[in-house]
This record gives sequence, C-alpha cells and structure tokens, in this order.
Amino acid sequence: MEVRPAHHAAEVEQALDLRERVFCGEQGVDLAAERDGRDDEALHVVALDGPRLIGTCRLLGDGAVMRLGRLAVAPEARRRGVGLAILDAAERSARSAGATEVRLHAQAAAVDLYARAGYVPYGEPFVEEGIDHVGMEKAL
Ligand SMILES: CC(C)(COP(=O)(O)OP(=O)(O)OC[C@H]1O[C@@H](n2cnc3c(N)ncnc32)[C@H](O)[C@@H]1OP(=O)(O)O)[C@@H](O)C(=O)NCCC(=O)NCCS
Repeated sequence: MEVRPAHHAAEVEQALDLRERVFCGEQGVDLAAERDGRDDEALHVVALDGPRLIGTCRLLGDGAVMRLGRLAVAPEARRRGVGLAILDAAERSARSAGATEVRLHAQAAAVDLYARAGYVPYGEPFVEEGIDHVGMEKAL
C-alpha cells in the first residue's frame, strides 16, 4: 500500500468518487454538501493498493492550524490500518506545510480511531449532516 498526497487530477477524481460512495451512498449525505466547493484548494491524501484507490482524506488551510476532513476508506479495505496510515501521511503533509496543529470534526463512530492517532476532543458535541460529531485536535 502507498499512502501519499495525490499526484494528479485523475487521483483526486478517484478520491471524490470514493467519497461519494462512502458519504452519500453509505451515510446518506447530500452530494451538494459532500462536494462543498473546497476541493480545489485542498491537499488530497490518497491510499493506493496497486492501481486501486482504497482511501482518502483532505487538508484545508495554510496557517498554523490545518483542518482534516473527508476521511474515507473503501468498505472492503477497512480494519486493516488504512485509516491510521492516511492520518499519519496527512499529518506529515500538514507539518511540511508549516502547520503545528490539525483539527477535525469526528463522527461519533470514528472517535476511537482518531483517539488512537493521538487526537483529543474539544468543545461540545454537535450534529452535522444529521450525524453526531465532536471536534478533535492534535498538536503536531
Ligand atoms: C472510519 C474509517 C475511515 C476507518 O478506516 P479504517 O481503515 O477501517 O481504520 P483502521 O483500520 O486504521 O482502524 C484503526 C483503529 O481505529 C478504530 N476503529 C476503526 N474503525 C472502527 C469502527 N468502525 N468501530 C470502532 N473502532 C474503529 C479501531 O481501534 C481500529 O483498530 P483495530 O482495527 O485494531 O481495532 C472507515 O471506517 C470509513 O471510511 N468509514 C466511513 C466514513 C467515515 O465515517 N469517516 C470518518 C468521518 S469523521
């Protein structure tokens, strides 16, 4: 498995396809909310198993705090450490871009994953796209 920033537009397209399958197909999120218009400015991280894209996330922002979002792993590739590997690669990219902290909105079901990667909750829980979330942050 290779986990790294997307090299070209075709990889970003594959990442968007996976996100649509996971967030819209599995979780019922509106496509308009999923495609929020910020992907052009994002740094996309991809996990590749040979030619197949099996996971992704994106980073937004260019200051001390970068926001990580849209973490998705293909259903058939889950519970094999792909999610944690994507977080690790994204943090390396954020550090290279000069960030000292990563923040994210964690779905309640994914809090354990982020906690294992060193993220700690902050603030009050909230609902986004009908899904329970909590803010989490990690100093790099
Ligand atoms: C959440 C998601 C990205 C996890 O990806 P993954 O590749 O399966 O995660 P990993 O294999 O790296 O998991 C590492 C650890 O996180 C925790 N974890 C991961 N998925 C979990 C789940 N569904 N329930 C409970 N703990 C979980 C476990 O501690 C796991 O370690 P273990 O497998 O040794 O028990 C994936 O399930 C997914 O794409 N879900 C749908 C989209 C989504 O909810 N994204 C998060 C938005 S905030």
